[in-house]
Amino acid sequence: MSKQIVLTGITTTGTPHLGNYVGAIRPAIEASRDRDVQSFYFLADYHSLIKCQDPERVNQSSMEVAATWLALGLDTDNAIFYRQSDIHEIPELTWILTCMTAKGLMNRAHAYKAAVADNEAAETRDPDQGVTMGLFCYPILMAADILMFKAAKVPVGRDQIQHLEMARDIALRFNHHYGDLLVPPEAVVDEDTAVLTGLDGRKMSKSYNNTIPLFLPEKQLRKLIMKIKTDTSPPEAPKDPETSSLFSMYKAFADADAIAAMRQRYAQGIGWGEMKQILFETINAELTEPRRRYEALIADPAYVEATLKKGARRAREYSTPFLEEIRRATGICPLG
Ligand code: TRP
Repeated sequence: MSKQIVLTGITTTGTPHLGNYVGAIRPAIEASRDRDVQSFYFLADYHSLIKCQDPERVNQSSMEVAATWLALGLDTDNAIFYRQSDIHEIPELTWILTCMTAKGLMNRAHAYKAAVADNEAAETRDPDQGVTMGLFCYPILMAADILMFKAAKVPVGRDQIQHLEMARDIALRFNHHYGDLLVPPEAVVDEDTAVLTGLDGRKMSKSYNNTIPLFLPEKQLRKLIMKIKTDTSPPEAPKDPETSSLFSMYKAFADADAIAAMRQRYAQGIGWGEMKQILFETINAELTEPRRRYEALIADPAYVEATLKKGARRAREYSTPFLEEIRRATGICPLG
């Protein structure tokens, strides 16, 4: 029996931070060790063009994201790890799917609606101001990413659920019209993965500007952790771990025994300064080795490139024959 396909895309805008690590990268790398599934993980660099039109930044970001996943131990002989733009079949499939997508479906996409709502709130004359067809059709490109590899399960954050529903809709419409070729995918949202808090106590997110970059040099990592907001209670005061963002971060990095012991310390009273030091040491211990590997990878772009090309070759073993089938189903095939 062929293995179940689990696929997810990683947007390549910005530098990966601790929240990305705990919420997405670490669980994905763990999941890819399951021999019963075939994981496909890719850099969604065509998606990045929607938000970022700075060529340097686009390129740099792909490099940082690829090096991050490799440094953290993704086994690329097992998981298929590639760059979206290396799979020429994806933009081809995107067009075929575009012709199977109701414009009305795209009108309902959250990202597009939010852009229109912003324009309306600002009383801009054109509600579509600043909206490219890239932003508008984003869910179709994402559907092609998924449908190209017959992915049944797609691990994503909550914000992506609508896109998965759209991919299903598009697949079903295609199948209804051309025959059952595409596999309607399902979103997998893991309710248990930790959501890390940021420097200000809100969810760590690029949009809040409260992130801690994953591979900061040790000294800077310590400095940022020391900046995490805390209340003014004195060291000896008993503290509630459940409302402490330092504790919630600690939980994402420490083992069960250490977490239990830390609960005790909170009950007895622990100074925030000491807690921050312990938090720094715990996070740093997990990241020291990967950080060293990351720096080595960044200094060896040819190796990263070769690894991505290996992934692309493996991915295209699936996409090349499957696109051929899809083309034939639509009548795009040799004459005669
Ligand atoms: N849109 C996704 C995000 O912003 C990234 C992505 C692109 C993706 N293509 C995908 C995720 C396909 C899952 C499957 O996070």
